[in-house]
Amino acid sequence: MSELQGINNKLEKTNANQGYVNNYILSLKLSNFRNYQSYKAEFPNCPIALIGKNGVGKTNILEAISLMQPGRGIRSVSLEDIAYKNCGNFGIHINLIKDAEKHEIGSSLNINHSKTRKVKIDGKFISPLTLTDYLGVISLTPLMDKLFIEGSSNRRKFIDKITWIFFSTHAKNIRLYEKLIRERNNLLKDNILDKIWFDNIEKQIVKYGSNIISDRLKVIKLLNNEINTNSSNFPKADMVVKGEIESKFNNSSDLDLFKDSFLRDLFDTRSKDSFRGITSIVPHRAELEVRYQEKEILANLCSTGEQKSLLISIILAVAKCYKNYCNLSPILLLDEVFAHLDNNKKESLSEEIKNLNVQAFMSGTEESDFMTFNENSYIINLDNSNNRRIHEH
Ligand SMILES: Nc1ncnc2c1ncn2[C@@H]1O[C@H](COP(=O)(O)OP(=O)(O)O)[C@@H](O)[C@H]1O
Ligand SMILES: [Mg+2]
Repeated sequence: MSELQGINNKLEKTNANQGYVNNYILSLKLSNFRNYQSYKAEFPNCPIALIGKNGVGKTNILEAISLMQPGRGIRSVSLEDIAYKNCGNFGIHINLIKDAEKHEIGSSLNINHSKTRKVKIDGKFISPLTLTDYLGVISLTPLMDKLFIEGSSNRRKFIDKITWIFFSTHAKNIRLYEKLIRERNNLLKDNILDKIWFDNIEKQIVKYGSNIISDRLKVIKLLNNEINTNSSNFPKADMVVKGEIESKFNNSSDLDLFKDSFLRDLFDTRSKDSFRGITSIVPHRAELEVRYQEKEILANLCSTGEQKSLLISIILAVAKCYKNYCNLSPILLLDEVFAHLDNNKKESLSEEIKNLNVQAFMSGTEESDFMTFNENSYIINLDNSNNRRIHEH
């Protein structure tokens, strides 16, 4: 038995009967992905520290795993940029162990055939939008450091990426909804007064838009409840999705009544919207407002460190809620999170991650960033491909 198998067997016994299904990546294979012409690794189901010098390819590995979800991964770049030296194709393959069964998932691009990536599970093509049926990946990266101060569209993307791991139809709803909005805007811009066309598009906007609002709000409620009842060392936060249509949704006692009024609003705003060629009263204008509870201030006014702590708090709540709500263990990606924490917070975060009992991929330049993990953690040194555990028990 290999060392890794030994670790995974032991962990499976520890995690058995905990009321949720274990889900983890057993192996990863990359071809022509970023700086890796080819790369292979096996992983245990526990916290994993990826160590190495700047530019060695730590974030690239996290990015590859993040592409096992809908969308364009943690860096949100065009797929062509991901291919090794822009060669036009890449492949990511994982073996996923879900409820003790192995599944193969592959995601690949071949620019000569298509500009979109193809995803296969166990040999069958699936839409990337349904990847959250198989696994839930939760990530925190330095690119999110400005989340609370930048434009609201990134905060909506943030909450949508979280929402679709809970409700796997959410990614598809968002995609269809955005297409419908573009269609309506084109009608407005081109001054096409086709009543039947408008009615049909607006009916569908209401259908998908209502699901989007409802699913986002359900997730926010779960997260607020988790953050405010747990005894974490990370700050408590209150999150609200604010918007005209969200207020109406909240104040409406009946979903059908809400949908009727949403449809009326779209009809009533047609002439106003046609001046600007945009759709004004819809969930894609919503604002995710986050408040640092103890200080009673909005997150954008908090210090950089406080904002990071709030994000950690939210990410941990997502992981806990996902486990409880979906009965499945999530996979965490924490890019350079530990390096910037003081020792006290490092200790708390490693304790939280250990208690979660999930597979977490964490990056850092120094092994010492992870010294607060003293068991069941695995180091992968990308500088010299030397893998070993921090502590043997
Ligand atoms: N498409 C690409 N082809 C080849 N190399 C790439 C590509 N995209 C990024 N890189 C390289 O990957 C490295 C960055 O890797 P990254 O994972 O961000 O490093 P780190 O270990 O610091 O997180 C850089 O050296 C960069 O030049
Ligand atoms: Mg990096």
